[in-house]
Amino acid sequence: MDIEYLINKLSTTNSLCFDELLYLIKNIDKQGLELRQNLYKLASHTRDKYYGNKVFLRGLVEVSNYCKSDCYYCGIRCSNKNVDRYRLDKKDILDCCEIGYKIGYKTFVLQSGEDLYFDDDKMCDIISCIKNKYPDCAITLSLGEKSYDTYKKYFLSGADRYLLRHETSSESHYSKLHPSNLKLSNRKECLENLKEIGFQIGAGFMVDSPFQTDEDIVNDLLYLKELNPHMVGIGPFIPHHDTIFKDYKPGDLNKTLLILSITRLLLPASLLPATTALASIDPKGRNMGLLAGCNVIMPNLSPYELRNKYSLYDNKLSTGCEAYEYHKSLEDTINNLGLSIDYSRGDNINWRRVKCL
Ligand code: 5AD
Repeated sequence: MDIEYLINKLSTTNSLCFDELLYLIKNIDKQGLELRQNLYKLASHTRDKYYGNKVFLRGLVEVSNYCKSDCYYCGIRCSNKNVDRYRLDKKDILDCCEIGYKIGYKTFVLQSGEDLYFDDDKMCDIISCIKNKYPDCAITLSLGEKSYDTYKKYFLSGADRYLLRHETSSESHYSKLHPSNLKLSNRKECLENLKEIGFQIGAGFMVDSPFQTDEDIVNDLLYLKELNPHMVGIGPFIPHHDTIFKDYKPGDLNKTLLILSITRLLLPASLLPATTALASIDPKGRNMGLLAGCNVIMPNLSPYELRNKYSLYDNKLSTGCEAYEYHKSLEDTINNLGLSIDYSRGDNINWRRVKCL
């Protein structure tokens, strides 16, 4: 197989088969770095073709670090007794949105551990209050696995998008990253339910998570291609010192960039963040992500004094361009890359709010 041929095929057809993707990932750097640069350029051009050379901002509100789940890789897993647990109340959350709205954010992302305190009534009340106050904004939720009925209530209350990474599309790999009560089949069903209800959905995975093989990554990419989510979250795995994976290596920057650029070409209309994890493993990570086809940044809007408690992994950035306080420097950074901030809601171009409401 010829790498140059594969890259051209990927960028013109937006698809490759399992063997082709595997070959591309394993061999792209064998003849120097030129092919990789070419791939990034094609991914950026594809982003520009679908969305313009624009970056969308999402204000991230980390609502609660209480979690009933025990995902082995995650710092806020329930069995980690060293976490100083907190949860925001409705007023705190609305205050965060107000700060974000003043800067110009048109999306608020409510992210949380799986905290049972927020039953359907409480969460729907928060969602509808935000929506009533900011009808021109999108609400994204990232609250984990819930029932069909709960998701439907969230949607009817005004939520527009839902992020739920599939984490890995391999059953055996999933069981190495999660306790046995968590099932890949349920995760996939949640994503299908969210899509059916009418949400813009986001799936994704970590690069270089423990036990991950290149074959797993290819299967993840093919799963994404088939699911065709509106958003894709991909960032490097980063160890957390209070987890059993504390001695594993953080994910590789170049590998993450490679997978992001392939994802852009496989799913050209996707909204693809340069994640906080990518920015956290390397000071140039965020910018390199944007140059490899990403088009979303999610600055942190959470109350400053609580940010270090939402510690999914060690050294998670919550300052600098990852924080709303540095909006101006983020804007300069984006402009210096030949991109500009798009202050619209930034919905996926293939989505309309058709169901219900
Ligand atoms: N390293 C990188 N990403 C992580 N996440 C959770 N723990 C880690 C970690 N140690 C990611 C998961 C999850 C998202 C909210 O954060 O993929 O879906």
